[in-house]
Amino acid sequence: MNDRASRRFPTIGTAFLFTIALLAAAHPSAQQAAQSSAPQAAPPPVPGQATATAIPSVVAGVTKTPQGGLMFQGKDQPPTLEAFRPPIWTLAQVLGSPRGTENGIAFDFGKPDFAGTLVFGLVPFHDTKYPQPVYRTSTPIAGGKAEINIKTSITDRYDMVGWQKSGSGVIGYRIISQTGGMIYDGRVRFRYAGTGLFEIDVTKFEGPFVGNIGPRQAVISFQLDRPAPCAVVVAERKIPCRDGETRQEITIDKLQPATAYAYTVQYGANAETYGFRTAPLPGARKPFVFAYASDSRGGQGGGERNFNGPNAYIVRRLMAVNASRGAAFMQFTGDLVSGYVTSPDQLIYELANWKRAIEPQAHWMPVYTGLGNHEAILREFSGAGARMARLARFPYATESSEAVFAQELVNPENGPASEDGAAYDPDPSAIDFPSYRRNVFWYQYDNVAMVVLNSNYWFTPSIALLPESGGNLHGYLMDQQIAWLGRTLDEIDRNKTIDHVFLTVHTPLFPNGGHVGDAMWYGGNNTPRATVAGTPLPRGIIERRDDLLALIQKHPKVLAVLTGDEHNYNRMRLDATVPIYPPNWDKPKMVLTRPFFQINNGAAGAPYYAQEQTPWSAAVSGFSTQHAICLFIVEGPKVRIETVNPETLEVIDRAVLR
Ligand SMILES: [Fe+2]
Repeated sequence: MNDRASRRFPTIGTAFLFTIALLAAAHPSAQQAAQSSAPQAAPPPVPGQATATAIPSVVAGVTKTPQGGLMFQGKDQPPTLEAFRPPIWTLAQVLGSPRGTENGIAFDFGKPDFAGTLVFGLVPFHDTKYPQPVYRTSTPIAGGKAEINIKTSITDRYDMVGWQKSGSGVIGYRIISQTGGMIYDGRVRFRYAGTGLFEIDVTKFEGPFVGNIGPRQAVISFQLDRPAPCAVVVAERKIPCRDGETRQEITIDKLQPATAYAYTVQYGANAETYGFRTAPLPGARKPFVFAYASDSRGGQGGGERNFNGPNAYIVRRLMAVNASRGAAFMQFTGDLVSGYVTSPDQLIYELANWKRAIEPQAHWMPVYTGLGNHEAILREFSGAGARMARLARFPYATESSEAVFAQELVNPENGPASEDGAAYDPDPSAIDFPSYRRNVFWYQYDNVAMVVLNSNYWFTPSIALLPESGGNLHGYLMDQQIAWLGRTLDEIDRNKTIDHVFLTVHTPLFPNGGHVGDAMWYGGNNTPRATVAGTPLPRGIIERRDDLLALIQKHPKVLAVLTGDEHNYNRMRLDATVPIYPPNWDKPKMVLTRPFFQINNGAAGAPYYAQEQTPWSAAVSGFSTQHAICLFIVEGPKVRIETVNPETLEVIDRAVLR
C-alpha cells in the first residue's frame, strides 16, 4: 500500500505528541482552515478537541480518556493513546501573509525555525495561454520571513508585464528549503502607486479550474485570498460569486454543445481570461481523445519530482501531453499526493501542490479525480507492546479523506450517498459513515461513460491486523457502492447515446506488480474484508472482486477497467482462458465469457514497482515502469489506446480495444 507511510510514523514519543494534543486549544476543521487561508498565517493546527469528538458507532474499541483525548484497545492488546502528527506545512503558512513594504513585499511563513530561499519573478498573462511565473531572482528566508525587493529586481528590462506603468502585477514565488526541498509555488498580486508602500491586491491564489463539462454547462472554480467582489463572464453573461466567500465554484449553464467559449474571471479590479469547450451532444459519435493516469505522489530524484505531495515534474509533463493531444478531459484515479496524514490541513496543503501542477492546462480542460489510499487522513493509536491502529479520521463529515477531497476537488455529485442504509448500518436513523459525495460518480462525454469508483472508501489501513476496530479494507467495495454500480450500469445500458463504458478504480482487480499482496487479491486470500464496529462483512475481498466481475460480465458496454495503485503501466485482456483463482478455491467461480480489458496506469510519478508472478501473468502485455499517460482515441464505434511517456514522448504501447 505504501512504504512512505511507515517512514512517516512519529519518531518522537507518543507521550510527547499526546501532551501536545492535550495542550491544544481548538483545531480548525478542514473547512475553517481552508477559508482562513489568507492574510494571517495561522499557527499550525493542533489536535485535541477530543472532548468534542463523537466516536462513530461504526468503530469499536475507541474510548475517551479521562483527560478528554482518545484511546484504542484491540483484542488482547494493551490500550494505546492517539498520536497526532502536526502538519509540516499548512496552506495558510505558505500563502505567506504578504504585506506591502516600501520596496516590495514582506512574507511571514509563520514558521520561525524555517530557513530557505524564496525565488520570485513576474507572471505574464498577456502573451500566453498558460501563464507561469518567470523566476528572476531569489532572496533568503530566515526565521520564516523574507522580503522581496521589486524595485531593484524586476524593473525596466525585466518588467515584461509593464507593472511600472500600470501600477499592478502578479508575483510568482517559490519556497525552497535549505536542503533543496520544494515547499510551495505561490502567487501574490500587488499594486503600486509610484510612491509610498506597495499594496497587496486581491489575489487569486488557486485556479481557475474548469470542471464538470457537459454539453450545456461547466463549472469554474478558484480561490481568492480574501472575500471580494468577483464573477465569471461567459458570452456576455456575468455570473456573480457567492458573497463573502474565498472559495468559489460557479456553474455556467445554458451553453451550446461542442462549442468553444472564452471565460473571464473578474476579481477585485482584475480579470483573467481562459477558455473551455463544451461536450458534444450525447451520442454525437464525433472523434475525441481523453486521458487517464493515477499515482502521482512524490517520487525520487529531488526537485519537482518530490513537491511535498505530488511528483509535480511528471504531472506537469503529462498535462502538457494532454493539451498537445487535444484531450477533452483527463481522468485521474487516486494517489494524487503522498498523504497518509493525521492532519486534514496537511492533506489540503499537499493537494494544493497537486492542483498547482495541473493548473496551467486545467484552466482549459477538466480533470476528474478519484480517491486512492494515499489520500488517507487517519487517527493513529500506538503504544508499547500493541499493534498500531490506523483508523479513518472522524468526524467523517469534516475531517475524513472523503470530506477534504470533496472540498478541494470538483467532481460530479451523482453517486450513492454513503454506506448508510446497508444491512450492516448500526443506526438507520443517523449518518454513521463517510460520504461518497464527489468520490463515487459517473459522467458522460459524447458516446463514452466513465464510472468512477472508490476502493479506498472509509479506508482503515490497520483493518486486516485489527479487524475488531471496524473500518474498510484497501481494495474493498462495500455493499451500497456495489448496489449503486449495478443500478448505474443498468441505466447506462438503456441509454442509447452511450457505446463505451469505462470503469475506473484505484486498486487493480488483477494486480501485477507492487500490490499482489493486497489490491483486490491479497495474494489469493479471501479472508480480508471490511468490518463494521468489529463485525466482519459476509463477503471476502476475492468474492467482492467477483461481484464486480459479475457486473462487468452483465453489462457488455463495459470495455475496460482503468486502475492504478501499482506504479507501472500494463494492459490485460481478460477472457475465459485466463486463470483468476487461487489453487484451492472452494467457492463459486466466475467464467469470463465476455472479454474486457484491465488497463493499469499508476505511472504518473510515484516510485515504480516491477512485475510479479500471478496466475494471470500470461495475459499481461505492455508492462513498463516508465512514466506514462494513456490516451484513449474514440472514433464512434472504435476505441484505441496510445500510451506515452510524458517525459520523452516515446509511445510505449498501442492497441485497438474495440
Ligand atoms: Fe495506491
